[in-house]
Amino acid sequence: MDQYIIHGGSTLRGEVEISGAKNAAVAIIPAALLVQGVCRIENIPQISDTDTLLTILTQLGARVSYLNKSTIEIDCTDARYQDAPYDLMRKIRASYYLIGSMLGRFGSAKTTMPGGCNFGVRPIDQHIKGMRALGADVNVKNGFVYADARDGRLHGARIYLDKVSVGATMNIMIAAVLAEGRTIIENAAREPHIVDLANFLNSMGADVRGAGTDTIKINGVEELHGGTYTIIPDQIEAGTYMVAAAATGGEVLIRNIIPKHMEGISAKLRETGTFIEEYEEALLVRGPDTLRRINLKTMPYPGFPTDMQPQFGVLLCLANGTSVITEGIYDNRFKYVNELRKMGAEIQVDGRVAVIDGGRRLTGAPVHACDLRAGAAMVIAGMVASGVTEIDDIHFIERGYERFVQKLNALGADIQVRYDESEFVSPGAFSVS
Ligand code: EPU
Repeated sequence: MDQYIIHGGSTLRGEVEISGAKNAAVAIIPAALLVQGVCRIENIPQISDTDTLLTILTQLGARVSYLNKSTIEIDCTDARYQDAPYDLMRKIRASYYLIGSMLGRFGSAKTTMPGGCNFGVRPIDQHIKGMRALGADVNVKNGFVYADARDGRLHGARIYLDKVSVGATMNIMIAAVLAEGRTIIENAAREPHIVDLANFLNSMGADVRGAGTDTIKINGVEELHGGTYTIIPDQIEAGTYMVAAAATGGEVLIRNIIPKHMEGISAKLRETGTFIEEYEEALLVRGPDTLRRINLKTMPYPGFPTDMQPQFGVLLCLANGTSVITEGIYDNRFKYVNELRKMGAEIQVDGRVAVIDGGRRLTGAPVHACDLRAGAAMVIAGMVASGVTEIDDIHFIERGYERFVQKLNALGADIQVRYDESEFVSPGAFSVS
């Protein structure tokens, strides 16, 4: 199994460039299936989740080419309905967007139940509710989702989401843009990547209004045309480097970001005593001599993001005093705590609440990356710990962070990748070096 070997004790200094937003890209790539023509998409992050989705699209007949390392062209003009590769779909959460895009394009979809990080039960009932409201018969059988538009084409509908769901909001938007008539999504999620998906679809000829509020209105159009679109910067990647700078007591300029998207994260970091200076497209982050304890609760945007919870968990191990983290989105997002305990952390977990007894000196240990963000958190822990930390299951981290090790090492970290020679890892089908 591949591993990161981290020699701790570094202080991060310098500048880091943030890549395109993973959770926008993983919706926009499947949405390109709706477009008759060439979509040029800029600021695509080079991570394994986007590679997997591009491979799935090519197997549906799309032509995909990289113009440079972050710009691709996707032409789905000749795409045809067929079974998508199940082994690939099972690997990632975002394969659920193929339900919306295949239904919108072909009137039928067959996908696996989605994979992705394991935070307890992650149902897709709100996606299914939305597709049914749009006129699809949807059945889940033997791990597959079968969806068929009853009239061959979807029809607009008014859909109230029982739960604020990023995935269901985006999936229904994707399905509805080519539906006949008007769709209204109420109690919609408001994350920046929802606005980004709407902007992408509109730039290809769709009519989506209200993204970023809790009511989204979609007037169906007959077809979408090609165009050029630039994906927003990744809020969570940026937040991860902010925490890494604060935790190591360093000073890092985080470039290519939208400061507005960072407000929740910046606010909580400032409470810990971290200095943050805002520029037009950058933030300067400087760690304090002594971190202060805080309480935080994860919530849908604009609340504090659950995808930053494990990284803050590490930071608060270093802060003076007792901090409380309440996880407001998932039932089981504290698995990383067991790994942190191996490094000397004192954390009690009761259901969705973690109580962190801070002011600890972490020590290096062999640990797992339990999932993508937990893995990033372990990397931060390894950088602040004394001694050597070995992290395995790093494929989770590479699902969502572009050139993580290179970027951190350029800031002064000491991380090596140890490849397991017994495993042959094929380079990403679309990677360019
Ligand atoms: N939920 C339901 N039914 C549904 C959908 C969601 O009960 O039909 C529940 C979930 O179980 C969860 C809550 O609603 O408790 C919110 O889930 P949401 O649908 O918003 O999450 P998601 O679409 O599965 C996306 C991101 C996650 C991120 C969440 C929350 C992608 C591919 N994934 O997941 O990203 O944590 O939104 O912001 O966009 C990550 O990047 O590390 C990651 C896990």
